[in-house]
Amino acid sequence: MGFYVTTPIYYVNAAPHLGHVYTTVAADILARHHKQRGEEVFFLTGTDEHGEPAVQAAERQGITPRELGDRNAPRFKEAMEEAGAEFDFFIRTTDPEHEAKVAEILQRVYENGHVYAGKYEGWYCPRCADFKTDAEIAEGNTCPIHHIPLEWQEEDNWFFRLSAFQEPLETLYEENPDFVRPRVRANEAKAFIAGGLQDVSLSRSKISWGVTVPWDPSQVFYVWFDALLNYVTALSYARPGEDLTDDFWPANLQLIGKDIIKFHGIYWPALLMAAGLEPPQGLFVHGFLLSPAAEDSEDAEGATTLEKMSKSRGNVIDPFEVIDQFGADALRFYLFREVSFGQDGPVSAAGFATRYETELANEYGNLANRTLSMIGRYRDGTIPDTDVDPVLAPDFEGLAERVGELLAKAEITTALDELWQRVRRLNRYVEERAPWQLARDDDKSEELDTTLRSLAEGLRVATVLLHPYMPPTAQKLLAALGQRDDTLDCATYGARAGGSAISKLDPLFPKL
Ligand code: MSP
Repeated sequence: MGFYVTTPIYYVNAAPHLGHVYTTVAADILARHHKQRGEEVFFLTGTDEHGEPAVQAAERQGITPRELGDRNAPRFKEAMEEAGAEFDFFIRTTDPEHEAKVAEILQRVYENGHVYAGKYEGWYCPRCADFKTDAEIAEGNTCPIHHIPLEWQEEDNWFFRLSAFQEPLETLYEENPDFVRPRVRANEAKAFIAGGLQDVSLSRSKISWGVTVPWDPSQVFYVWFDALLNYVTALSYARPGEDLTDDFWPANLQLIGKDIIKFHGIYWPALLMAAGLEPPQGLFVHGFLLSPAAEDSEDAEGATTLEKMSKSRGNVIDPFEVIDQFGADALRFYLFREVSFGQDGPVSAAGFATRYETELANEYGNLANRTLSMIGRYRDGTIPDTDVDPVLAPDFEGLAERVGELLAKAEITTALDELWQRVRRLNRYVEERAPWQLARDDDKSEELDTTLRSLAEGLRVATVLLHPYMPPTAQKLLAALGQRDDTLDCATYGARAGGSAISKLDPLFPKL
């Protein structure tokens, strides 16, 4: 069994912000979960460096688009690495192998008869690199996403016959109702299709920063077609000397933000069909991280206005700063605990600090500390070799399966909620049993053994399942429990025997 997961590739027009890290960490959590299942995983992320967004940003900064990519792509890569993302390949659309493969695949689309010459005119947002349909134009002829004026553009282009894929797309959505999740997003895509698909411009003649159209070298491919194809091209050269396309295409899961659903839910499967390739098995569309608007931060009632975090709105959070302050694991935890994956939600420095203190330090960190220190104090550092307390069994019964089912559907927040309930249950168990009282009474020695053993075992199971969310933290704690195995098979309460020696553990989440 293989598992191929992708993130969008990010524009290099500015430095990475927390919104970009968000999608890549989500993919990382899912990738790590599938590795725990023993599957072969391929996880792709990267940067989108061609087209108008890059050309315009480079102009503003007085450098070439290539210099812009060379400056910013490594910052994206580093941000993702610092956030603990263990991707298998970081693609840049300026990779010559990608460029060659794009030309090859689109040549095939052309030969298959899905391309024709035409004239394009319409309202265009250079930041989205997208022509807007009437329904997509905001007040004052502006972009509803970037709030900048749209530009009227006319040019002779090559067109992709998207309209010919109306029926095949309808069939795709009908036969596979989970092609796009959550369901509201599938409905959005279906409504767009039902509105009637128009052919789309496949090439640009006004800019030269892109992949040259092989049958017409006066044009470059429109950046979105070049960018979308990254998901396939990467497989052909990510591992030197190997072509992984047959092993991993179609992708199992493609994560995207809700701003790019038209491209991924409609253009992308149509383009793949036109090239004779299979559509991905599924897309998961998540919401936006919101933060206070830079200007007019308060509405008439004095409430703060929240907006999508984005460079153009000037309300971004720098991932490097947050990681410096709280650590990558705390950031990962916070993002998926605070904002329900699939929905929009606000993030803030104050919110970080609160969750860090109340949940990571006081609930999880403290549970780990108490458990280990009581085993040290009362049992000389060895987990009692006795049966686990059946009273906790119902709490853990079926937990690994439930978490697995949720993560198979990319329900990252719901799965974390399930785990956190168990962390809280274990804290209550400590209070109920009061081991410090049992330790004063020799007749209660067996009860103390059972209590400590069960705490260690419950903590182990919860931690194995938390591993994808907070990998280094989980590894440290499992090592301290003397139980390094973090595969899903052992995530059952009572699956491991007692008797192992514990070791010292520094506070997992020290007070700030
Ligand atoms: N380059 C295109 C995608 C091409 S994919 C073939 C693009 N890039 S982007 O940098 O503007 O944003 C890409 C993705 O970053 C979004 O789809 C989303 O996954 C993530 N996010 C950017 N800002 C975000 C938030 N404020 N909140 C959550 N995710 C955000 O579009």
